[in-house]
Amino acid sequence: MDISKILNGTKLDSLSTQPLYLQISQLIASKILDQTLAPDSKLPPERELAALFGVSRTTAINAYRQLEQQGLVRTRVGSGTYVSGGTGQANTPSPGIPWSQLFTPYPQTPSSSILRELVSTPISSDVISLAAGMPDPSFYPLAALKALLNEHLDQVERGAFGHIPTEGYPPLRESLAALLHDKGIKSTADNILVVSGSQQGLYLTSRVLLEPGDYVIVESPTYIGAIQTFQSIGARILTLPASGTFPLDIFEDYLIRYRPKMFYIIPTFQNPTGRVLPEKERWEALTLAARHRLVIVEDDPYSQLYYRTEPPPTLKALDPYHGVVYMSTFSKILAPGLRMGYVCAPPALINRLALEKQYIDLHSNNLSQWLLHLFLQQVNLEDHLTFLRTEYKKRRDALVRAIRRSCGDDLVFAVPDGGFYLWCKIQAPVTAGKLLHEATKNGIFFVPGEAFYATAGGYKEFRLCFATHEETLLAEGAHRLAQSLRQLAKGKRGQGLGDKYRLNNQGSILP
Ligand SMILES: Cc1ncc(COP(=O)(O)O)c(C=O)c1O
Repeated sequence: MDISKILNGTKLDSLSTQPLYLQISQLIASKILDQTLAPDSKLPPERELAALFGVSRTTAINAYRQLEQQGLVRTRVGSGTYVSGGTGQANTPSPGIPWSQLFTPYPQTPSSSILRELVSTPISSDVISLAAGMPDPSFYPLAALKALLNEHLDQVERGAFGHIPTEGYPPLRESLAALLHDKGIKSTADNILVVSGSQQGLYLTSRVLLEPGDYVIVESPTYIGAIQTFQSIGARILTLPASGTFPLDIFEDYLIRYRPKMFYIIPTFQNPTGRVLPEKERWEALTLAARHRLVIVEDDPYSQLYYRTEPPPTLKALDPYHGVVYMSTFSKILAPGLRMGYVCAPPALINRLALEKQYIDLHSNNLSQWLLHLFLQQVNLEDHLTFLRTEYKKRRDALVRAIRRSCGDDLVFAVPDGGFYLWCKIQAPVTAGKLLHEATKNGIFFVPGEAFYATAGGYKEFRLCFATHEETLLAEGAHRLAQSLRQLAKGKRGQGLGDKYRLNNQGSILP
C-alpha cells in the first residue's frame, strides 16, 4: 500500500496543541473510515511512517497505538500493521490473543516510552545525542573492576552464586552504611536495601506507600522516571515549581488541603534543572514535613558530582523526624549497567520494601553486588569522584561556552554547579518540539521540556546532557543546535545534512 500517495498533500500542524501522533492517527483513521484504505491492507512500517511525516519513530508508534486502541488497525507480530475489518474487527484468519485489550490500565501518554527509548536506542555515529543522562563510558572504572575480578574471581565460593538475602549482599550493605556515614547520614546495614538501580528503589517505595488516588508532591519539572512511576500507580500528582525559593506557602497549602502521602524531591543538582536547594530551605521544608508527618523521598544520584563547592548536606543527614527515605545510585558515578542503587530508611520500611522486592526479583544480581562491595573496599572512590568532577566540569564549561557563542540570546540557562544537565529556555519564537524536529535533521538530539512535566508545560524548555561526550563533540552539538534555530527562524527546511540524518537516525529521536 503506497500510503504516501493516499496521504499526499496532507500536512501536520506543528503549531497545533494537538500532539503530532494524534494528528497522524486521525488522518489515517479518516482514510480507513472512508474506505480509501481498504480492510486488511498493509500499512507502512513505523520507520517509514515516521519518515513520511518527518516525525520521530516514537510519534509513529504512538499513532499506530492510538489506532490499535480504536480497533482500526491490528498489529501482526513479525508481519506489520494492517487495517482492521470495517466493523473494527480484524480481518485476519486467526486473530490470536487481543493482548492490548487484556492489559490492566496503564499510563499511555506520548512520553510514557521516552525513558525506555533513552536507554535502549543505539546511537548512530553521525548523531550527537545530548538526550540521555548517560555518563561517558570511557569513564567507567573498567581497569579497576577488571583487576578486582581477576584477583578475586578464583576465590569465589559456589554459594556466592546461589540466592542471597533480598535486602542485599550483607557485606555490601555494611559498605554502603559506611559510605553513607561519610555523607553525614547515620545508618547501619539494617537501614539499607540494595536495589537494581534507584529507579527500582523509587518504584518499590511508591508501591509500598501509595495507593491509586493518593496525592504525591513533586517538583516541576522533575525526573521522567518518577512521573511515570507515580502515574503507573495511579497516584495524583501535585507540583511545586523547581526554580526560585522553595515555595513553602504552596507546600503548606498542599499539606493541609490534600494530605499527600509523599513528597518526591531531588534537592541536589536536580534533574533536569540542575538546581540545588539551599540548606536554609532544606530545613524549612523538613520542619513543615515533620509537622505534618509527611514522608519525603530524597532521590540523590548527583550530589557527589559537584564542580564548585560541596553542596549542602542531604535532607537525610538533616532529617529531624526519621521521615526521609533516601535513595542513591552508582549509575552516574560508576556504570549504569551494574544496576546498583540503594535505599536508606528505617528498618520497618526496609523490611516492607524487601518483601515487595521479593515479588519482583528475589534479590539484585549477586555478581554486581559482590563486585561493588570489592570496589568500595579496595578502590579509593573519592579519587575516582575527583577525576569525574574535573572532567565533567570541563565538559559543562565547554558546552556553556559553545552554546553562548553559537546560540547567543536565543537560549538562556543557569550554569549548574554540578550534575549532568543544562536546562535551556528558548527565547526565540519556537517550541522545543519544533526545535527538536529540526535538530534531528541536523543530527543533534535532546529531550524536550514537556517530558519532565506531570501537567502541561515545558514547551519552550529542553534538557541537554553534557556528561556523555567530550568537549569537541559538545561544541559541534551546540553549533548544530544554533543551525537548527537559524533554519527555523528563516522558516527554511534543512537541506543536505537534514536528508542525511533523516535516513541515519534509525527512525528515533531519542537515543
Ligand atoms: C533523578 C534520577 N533518579 C533516578 C535515576 C535512575 O537511576 P538508576 O540507573 O539508578 O535506576 C536517574 C537516572 O537518570 C535520575 O536522574
